[in-house]
Amino acid sequence: MVNSGRDKIGRTNKRTLLILLIGVVLVGIYLLYRNFGSTNTQMTSGANWSEYYGDGSRSHYSTLSQITKENISKLKVAWEYSSGGADIKGNRSQIQCNPIIINGILYGVSPNTQVFAVDATNGKELWKTNITDNGGTSSRGVTYYADNDSKRIFFGAGKWLYALNAETGEPISTFGENGRINLKVGLERPGSDDYVVSNTPNTIFKNLIITGVRVSESETALLGDIRAFNVHSGKLVWTFKTIPEKGEEGYNTWSPEPRKYIGGANCWAGMAIDRKRGIVYMPTGSAAFDFYGGNRVGNNLYASCLLALDAATGKRLWHYQLIHHDIWDRDPPAPPNLVTVISKGKKIDAVAQITKQGFVFVFNRVTGEPLFKIEEKKFRMDGIAGEYPSPTQPIPVKPAPFTRQTFTEKDFNTFVADKDSLVKILRGARTGSIYIPVGKEMTIFYPGSDGGAQWGGAASDPDGILYVPAKELPVYTTLIPAKKSVDNTPLTGVKLYDMYCASCHGKNRIGNRDGSYPSLQGVEKRLSKESIQNILSKGKGMMPSFSHISNEQRKVIIDFLFNKSSSVGQGRSKSVQTNVPYQHTGYNRWYDKNDYPVNTPPWGTLTAIDLNTGEHKWQIPLGEYKALMDKGIPATGTDNYGGPLVTASGLIFIAATRDEKFRVIDKQTGKILWQTQLPAAGYATPSTYAVNGKQYVVIACGGGKLKSKSGDKYVAFSL
Ligand code: HEC
Repeated sequence: MVNSGRDKIGRTNKRTLLILLIGVVLVGIYLLYRNFGSTNTQMTSGANWSEYYGDGSRSHYSTLSQITKENISKLKVAWEYSSGGADIKGNRSQIQCNPIIINGILYGVSPNTQVFAVDATNGKELWKTNITDNGGTSSRGVTYYADNDSKRIFFGAGKWLYALNAETGEPISTFGENGRINLKVGLERPGSDDYVVSNTPNTIFKNLIITGVRVSESETALLGDIRAFNVHSGKLVWTFKTIPEKGEEGYNTWSPEPRKYIGGANCWAGMAIDRKRGIVYMPTGSAAFDFYGGNRVGNNLYASCLLALDAATGKRLWHYQLIHHDIWDRDPPAPPNLVTVISKGKKIDAVAQITKQGFVFVFNRVTGEPLFKIEEKKFRMDGIAGEYPSPTQPIPVKPAPFTRQTFTEKDFNTFVADKDSLVKILRGARTGSIYIPVGKEMTIFYPGSDGGAQWGGAASDPDGILYVPAKELPVYTTLIPAKKSVDNTPLTGVKLYDMYCASCHGKNRIGNRDGSYPSLQGVEKRLSKESIQNILSKGKGMMPSFSHISNEQRKVIIDFLFNKSSSVGQGRSKSVQTNVPYQHTGYNRWYDKNDYPVNTPPWGTLTAIDLNTGEHKWQIPLGEYKALMDKGIPATGTDNYGGPLVTASGLIFIAATRDEKFRVIDKQTGKILWQTQLPAAGYATPSTYAVNGKQYVVIACGGGKLKSKSGDKYVAFSL
């Protein structure tokens, strides 16, 4: 009797209902008006930027549309907040944070790794932490969780995962040990070091916080297990072992007992989550050591994969390995984008993963089936002695790569300085293919070792278009025998320096050209022995800790930096493992003597890729060098870090470039509509939000990479 219920409502009741209904609509309209203003703005939950890169899909997308193509010229600074703690003198501090904004409060992280909350309408500080043992690690942001009892901010600092009261910034004592848990516990293996930080925001699923970690890239790296903890108690709920135990699937893709002597395969780049289906998508890192895998023969599952896990249990649903037996550190660098596309006439929920080498891999989100064909292609196998490279690697047929991928003589730019000598160097180098095992000779990565795409990630819109920033500079490295000092002579400072420090700080302590690894010449004039001891025991920014080498050895290295010679012990130290017979000579960007990349521009790009068809819509150079523009050379693009933001009004907001600019771009055409100079380079991803009907866009201006000056400001813009 379907109708009987309805018949019971008499006439008067109907009228009451109607009046009630009108009332509800009126109140609704009033609330709408109060919260979002009367003009232009769509009513959506888009007022908040509630998690890393905007939402669980990591779309970098907002439904806000008050700022448009038509009014963009009126965009101006609304407020600035100095978050404090920048290393202005040394220009070494950075801010990589994508801030979140919840109900008019912005939560971000300062250059010296302190969390803060400010009023998102004026930048007035509400609270800021004073966490001392944060390891000086850079942070990409925080995670918000709220229920009836509490609102909390989760924050990874050094080896700690903190739960802070969102209203006060105080640790919530009922979580873990007095408000924090030690992420290192459970990741140790024999001979592993101390370096672990969860610097990319973690992901909430119901009452779980799902965590990935960053670990070191050397043979002493910790395990990269993915874990979920209870948001209230901090208790471990599940673990997914990215390097399997005996008897588990994937175990046979390694040399025996890999968990005893291999670390890494960690989810460092962030993850995306489909909360409706309860699936979390996690890119995994390469196994450590990065550039030699003779001690981990096989494909090495689940390193350098895209993993789909059941968010409630940590069970693997499907995976796709993007690189077999990764010996290039070509692990996916950013969270995947969850998108919806039309594929063969059907609407498909998909997941798209961008990579350092310029690929986009697109899969059905549920089945893991590729939406465009992926071919296993043959590559060079002439690895260094002891190495067994994979004979094939997966190459997507579509979309076309968003960067160039091989570097040859014809790729030197027309204005490169000293071309003849560079050509000579290139002729002795290993180059010309995307996957060449690193050898004793200079081996070229193109695009460079950290991308291609980088941790700033890509934006995606509801039309299925992906907007990917990328850089295109050749980087070179070499493998040399590891100096393990097996002879019986004492370990001198020079020897220890060569063993542990030279790969990044250079043979003669000169650092590298782009300043990402600082020169240590004259460091004794800048820093005290104690502060260097501190850096060695805790690590700093991109520098791993050296707590795994003995205190005596550290003292000898420091003496060496202070130009005093001393030595320790005889021969090999116990803590030095010998599984890896090689070390690499650093990540060296290839610049000419005028400090320009040696390759033909563009050196940085933004590409719009239609994931429905796999076709590129447009590509523009991202960033410019004024000195070259003045000479009449068109915009070259620059090296970049950080990602875009795309809004419902068709605008892309992006900083990321070395030229310290912030740009607004038309998403249809790639045309630059507006730009402004930032107080320091915005090597981060902007966020957008609305309070009281006003839309804001905010970007962290931390500089401090690529020889840019450091800064501590968050700058918010509005009309
Ligand atoms: C994996 C690369 C890497 C290795 C290996 C490495 N460092 Fe570093 N180091 C860095 C980076 C990157 C920085 C800059 C950190 C920052 O400020 O963000 C740095 C900074 C430093 C600083 C501070 C310099 C300054 O001017 O502020 C000192 C001192 C230092 N390293 C010493 C060492 C010593 C000694 C070793 C060997 C035991 C070593 N490093 C090994 C990457 C490395």
